[in-house]
Amino acid sequence: MSTQKSAKITFSDGTPAMDLPIHQGTMGPDVIDIRKIYGATGKFTFDPGFLSTASCESKITYIDGDKGELLYRGYPIEQLAVHCDYLETCYLLLNGELPTQDQRTDFEQRVMRHTMVHEQMNRFFTGFRRDAHPMAVLVGCVGALSAFYHDSLDIQNPEHRFISAIRLLAKMPTLVAMAYKYHVGQPFMYPQNNLSYSANFMRMVFGTPCEEYQVNDVLVRALDRIMILHADHEQNASTSTVRLAGSSGANPFACIAAGIATLWGPAHGGANEACLFMLDDIQRQGGIEKIGNFISKVKDKDSGVKLMGFGHRVYKNYDPRAKLMRETCYEVLDELGLHDDPLFKLAMKLEQIALEDDYFVQRKLYPNVDYYSGIVQRALGFPTEMFTCVFALARTVGWIAQWGEMIAEPDQKIGRPRQLFTGSTPREVKPIAQR
Ligand code: ACO
Repeated sequence: MSTQKSAKITFSDGTPAMDLPIHQGTMGPDVIDIRKIYGATGKFTFDPGFLSTASCESKITYIDGDKGELLYRGYPIEQLAVHCDYLETCYLLLNGELPTQDQRTDFEQRVMRHTMVHEQMNRFFTGFRRDAHPMAVLVGCVGALSAFYHDSLDIQNPEHRFISAIRLLAKMPTLVAMAYKYHVGQPFMYPQNNLSYSANFMRMVFGTPCEEYQVNDVLVRALDRIMILHADHEQNASTSTVRLAGSSGANPFACIAAGIATLWGPAHGGANEACLFMLDDIQRQGGIEKIGNFISKVKDKDSGVKLMGFGHRVYKNYDPRAKLMRETCYEVLDELGLHDDPLFKLAMKLEQIALEDDYFVQRKLYPNVDYYSGIVQRALGFPTEMFTCVFALARTVGWIAQWGEMIAEPDQKIGRPRQLFTGSTPREVKPIAQR
């Protein structure tokens, strides 16, 4: 970070003007450092929703929303999706560099040796109703991991942070698969560590003890790519939640559980599930013929209807992940002989109509990663309620990398925003009979 420029802020109420340093990153907008404003002026800045606020300094992921560019540690997502697998991408996010062959082998062995969860975890699952949403189960069970690993919860110890990172990466697929198996009433499948990360996950989800699971390399590669595309996305709502939770010194398992809870919302990771419900709904009402009606509803602000999987706070261009996801969609549907999948056709037509409509053009609303991910996941065999769990599994590495970066900062402070108070001024409590 370099600081060669400054901004002068002046006030109309007699408060003396002050100079504010402007920091420059390696890419992206400059940031005005406002940390001293309150001390010098007694005034806060106001930015609900963080529309103009950089909440931290980071070296991990960069998005250029206007260009539609996403880089992990400087590498374009398009190249990572083609040349790397998910575990290599995890290594990159956590360590800053792509692994050599030896480093990759070592990392994979470390992760794949820790895939089992404590046998006692089964009891947590059986405490839930079978019809519970798997995300509800996941929030609880990931948080519960902290009850099992007291030996590595000293967050100031880099070795402990590393062990927790490996445990989280290794055990998330197992927990997500268990959440699914519990939901459908099938026995839990133990991990098989000689499979790749994604193949093992698919086997734990779709395999049963009754027959040998046949790994389909095309589908495994598709899932692996979905995981790469979701691995990190700078300071989004769930990542910022993980950082905020972690800033108090909470353990990583608790922080990741907080991230999962945030991801669940339909404005964030829950959009993949909501998008598929939306497409199903349009399909039920008549399919492609009814797109016009649906778009009219979306444009009517009183309807409360949104085109799910469209729009993004940062991307004002096509989300590069959505492009790759659409390609993956083609590959998976081809492999499974589902070229005529009616929802895929509907989604493509809906996208085309929306992209030509003034409402979406003027607001720069393009498909985001969630638009096609539901269709791919459904084709892979995941039921709708599992979509956000798969997203959570993939994003875990980003959350850990961002959490680790924050904890390692020498002048890390607890995150504690302030407020513009508009409630009642001081008043006396009246006895109940006089109220
Ligand atoms: N459908 C219809 N209109 C939309 C949509 C949409 N999907 N998204 C934004 N708009 C409209 C808003 O109504 C607003 O219109 P206005 O200027 O007339 O008031 C304008 O576009 C700007 O939108 P904001 O809501 O101000 O944008 P914000 O950055 O706050 O929200 C968000 C971004 C939450 C992603 C929003 O676009 C949305 O709700 N999309 C649908 C849900 C979704 O797909 N979420 C996944 C995001 S990707 C992820 O989290 C992995």
